[in-house]
Amino acid sequence: MRLSAAVALVGLAATSMMAGVRAEETPKASDVLDLGAKNFSDTIKENKLILVEFYAPWCGHCKALAPEYEIAATQLKEVGIPVAKVDCTVETDVCKDHGVQGYPTIMVFRDGQPTSYGGPRKADGLVSFMKKKSLPAVSEITTDKLAEFSTSDKVVIVGVLPKDSKKRATLEKVAKAYSDDFIFGVIEENPDIKGEGIVLYKKFDEGKNLLEGDFTEESLTEFIKTYSVPIMDEIGPDNYASYMESGLPLAYYFFSNEEQRTKYSADLEAVAKELKGKMNFVYIDATKFGAHAVNLNLKESWPAFGIQNVDSGAKFPLDQESELSVENIKTLAQGVLDGSVKPSIKSEPIPEKNDEPVKVVVANNYKDIVEDLDKDVLIEFYAPWCGHCKNLAPIYEKIGKHYEGSNIVIAKFDATANDLPVDTPFQIQGFPTIKFRKAGSTDYIDYDGNRSEEDIVSFITNNAVHKVDVKVEEQKSAPAEPETEDIEHDEL
Ligand SMILES: *[C@@H]1O[C@H](CO)[C@@H](O)[C@H](O)[C@H]1NC(C)=O
Ligand SMILES: *[C@@H]1O[C@H](CO)[C@@H](O)[C@H](O)[C@H]1NC(C)=O
Repeated sequence: MRLSAAVALVGLAATSMMAGVRAEETPKASDVLDLGAKNFSDTIKENKLILVEFYAPWCGHCKALAPEYEIAATQLKEVGIPVAKVDCTVETDVCKDHGVQGYPTIMVFRDGQPTSYGGPRKADGLVSFMKKKSLPAVSEITTDKLAEFSTSDKVVIVGVLPKDSKKRATLEKVAKAYSDDFIFGVIEENPDIKGEGIVLYKKFDEGKNLLEGDFTEESLTEFIKTYSVPIMDEIGPDNYASYMESGLPLAYYFFSNEEQRTKYSADLEAVAKELKGKMNFVYIDATKFGAHAVNLNLKESWPAFGIQNVDSGAKFPLDQESELSVENIKTLAQGVLDGSVKPSIKSEPIPEKNDEPVKVVVANNYKDIVEDLDKDVLIEFYAPWCGHCKNLAPIYEKIGKHYEGSNIVIAKFDATANDLPVDTPFQIQGFPTIKFRKAGSTDYIDYDGNRSEEDIVSFITNNAVHKVDVKVEEQKSAPAEPETEDIEHDEL
């Protein structure tokens, strides 16, 4: 879910990271360890838990992250969690060994095992995530530690449940599934709970909630999803991941000044409260994140309202022709929930002539070209601003020529000007993304080889159902770099 979040919220994190640059007054020694081939393996081995950023000095997102990363390193040092970085322009082997393809790549190593980090790139978020990683899924706490524990993160879930009970096992199971997101604990006695039960402590709204009714894996999960997000908060880089995690459709109210923000707030919050647990509602500051409206197929005109399904990426902008009203918002929200409203699909016009070696795919001809089961299809998803895509273009064009007139289609799709059809089984995470669909199959295969003519052609030869004999001339020039660009570049 978090990956799709990156797409759903294109740029939200990136923009405000830029806005959040702090002025350091006196330079101090860095708490971030600088690692290289000589000491990388040993450092990973010596530390049970460590956060590592693979970066390149020229990368804009890395620069934006740097001050936040420094703050996080200092705070995490206090709790004994080291934070490190690797300069991939110098330590090429270390980065290659870890499959680094884009910058920054952030990984958490626990007992030497890496997992990629997709959480917020602000100091608070990094610290909170690593603290959670350092705890067991469920911590056993003593009564004197309850106050400290229950306020140690934005949301903390505490149970009073006998050891070896079925309920305790249920809590353990749910806690394991959500260990990246929330802190869980058990305690023998808790003044907030009479007998057995679960309480969710939070630093917003009513401050705490008790689980009522059934105690099952489903009801506990539902309870946590419902109460772990505020009724209607303002969304930003430090909390957007939690909305994505919840998996619920996300409704955005864009405002550009205080008057707009407050004009509908009482009514909006009433709707948000009514739909709690089914749909999340947020305020979004259009002066900072106005460009996000475009991702919801809205015009940048305020106030505005739109809903996005965070799992599928489907978008439901509220019509901007008529005046915004809470009544219309409510109708749209209900329609999205009961499936009666169709998502909005952005498309460039279908090209009248499409006779170039590389076929131009837009949203409205996607099914006809890319899902034509008689053909093998190689498709590149690109952005006009993406440098790696530009480097690939002449190579891709050559490949298109090799297969011209055959049953192997070479196609491209500008993913900034077109939405994928809603039932497409993937979302785009970076540019360029190259995928292949064999004739007769509805599955897509990722192309992740290098971007030389030779490699792409040999990939097609190995996978295509139709056979076309292609001779690739000896390559003298280097292939385009295999890196992808973060989709968030969109905002820069
Ligand atoms: C690790 O080795 C690199 C050189 O490869 C050096 O610059 C760096 O300071 C070392 N880091 C630590 C934490 O020892
Ligand atoms: C790309 O892959 C081909 C075949 O695997 C290899 O011969 C070539 O050296 C690779 N090029 C680069 C720059 O990695």
